[in-house]
Amino acid sequence: MRDLSRRDLLRVAAVAAAGSAAGCTGHPPTSPSPAPGTSGPVTFPPDFAWGVATSAYQIEGAVAEDGRGPSVWDAFCAQPHRIADASSGSPADDHYHCYQEDLDLMKELHIRSYRFSISWPRILPDGAGSVNTKGLDFYRKLLEGLHARGITPMATLWHWDTPQALQDRVGGWESRECAQRFADYAGIVGERLGDLVPAWLTVNEPKTQVQVGYLSGDFAPGRQDPDAATKALHHLMLGHGLAVAALRAAAPKSKVGAALNLAPVYPADDADATHAVHVRDVAENTAYLDPVFKGRYPDGLHDAGFRRPALESVLRDGDLERISVPIDLLGVNYYNPAFVRADGRTVRKYPVASPANWLEIYPPGLYDTLLRLRRDYGNPLTSVTENGRPDAPDTPGDGLADQARIDYLRDHLVQARRAIADGARLGGYHAWSLLDNFEWSRGYTQRFGLVHVDYPTQKRTPKQSARWYADVIARGSL
Ligand code: GCO
Repeated sequence: MRDLSRRDLLRVAAVAAAGSAAGCTGHPPTSPSPAPGTSGPVTFPPDFAWGVATSAYQIEGAVAEDGRGPSVWDAFCAQPHRIADASSGSPADDHYHCYQEDLDLMKELHIRSYRFSISWPRILPDGAGSVNTKGLDFYRKLLEGLHARGITPMATLWHWDTPQALQDRVGGWESRECAQRFADYAGIVGERLGDLVPAWLTVNEPKTQVQVGYLSGDFAPGRQDPDAATKALHHLMLGHGLAVAALRAAAPKSKVGAALNLAPVYPADDADATHAVHVRDVAENTAYLDPVFKGRYPDGLHDAGFRRPALESVLRDGDLERISVPIDLLGVNYYNPAFVRADGRTVRKYPVASPANWLEIYPPGLYDTLLRLRRDYGNPLTSVTENGRPDAPDTPGDGLADQARIDYLRDHLVQARRAIADGARLGGYHAWSLLDNFEWSRGYTQRFGLVHVDYPTQKRTPKQSARWYADVIARGSL
């Protein structure tokens, strides 16, 4: 989620809900006291998977090459006023051509785990039907290059780039058919590439798709429709469950899971915000966690902006069992918490990672999120699959002296280590992102990379944070 408009939308939902009766799942903020170990070295387990993350549309470019079909993001970017700098994911980092250099860069930075995404329309240009072998070839070469450098791949199947053909033909995730075609795609990729992929993630951040793609309309496919958002929620979760089954059948040795962006919700002040916290928690977390881990949707969906009748209209017998098929791994994207008042309004209590106005910096929120998964969801094996910030506006030069990013990463890693010490099963951490890249509706105006990219020349230059991270990995400690 990335824009204030989404926050506003949630606030509206929460305000609308104020006064109606509902249970509460609010949990108190962690103690703000410094984490144990901050005075000396903070050492990680030796097998900790130190990583970086990217996604296909944000880095690959080559959008019309070697048979790739258009995705909803190509279509969205072509519409006027959708993207801050009127740009698109073409050519982004031209990673499709520069991937060998990017692999070398990762090796140089001691990266051990690389989370990337496979572009669905590169494999199935029409969303279904004939398979584009050249697309598969690209990912096979990428995977072989990772293995050759001793870097473990973690592949995401869908990082928002739904084939436009499916959007046109069936209405995208609003339709059950999209979930079925997604499972077909998962099976194909699992069969052809599964020997090289030890860990798969099905969907990335269904919450962002629902809230920003279907409620606020700021992301592709640009809808503003609570009924459609509710159907998309269910079909994304169903697509996840069906894809897990397809991957299991095709690649039985690999771990399989999903990547959810979770945001711990806290009362903003001493007033009783029990209901508002519950409503926001549904919107931020439990609408996605509960179906996967508990086989049900939480109470309070309506107050969180969804529509029960729309859900009933698409929910079929057996769906919740399909969605809650056991997973091996949960990817946690953590950026920010939500502090809410009793009236549902969001309050910013901590500095924001400007220019990303949605990214309130609260590292203990990562600890709380991981401990909550331990407490309420059976302590799944997790990996932080995204965490990072854009360059601060006052970063000198080309953003190479990015002390603010170092501070951000270090403070979150301290909390990650603290969570491990307190029993969370956290196996790795992936900084967002390896490279500066196409930041969705913000275009190229926000740089999240550990490595600077000069877009006209495609020259890569590691920022100070990349060097710092490489040292941390080499030492295994902060
Ligand atoms: C997300 C996506 C990434 C973003 C990153 C920074 O979390 O929105 O997974 O693609 O670029 O989060 O906004």
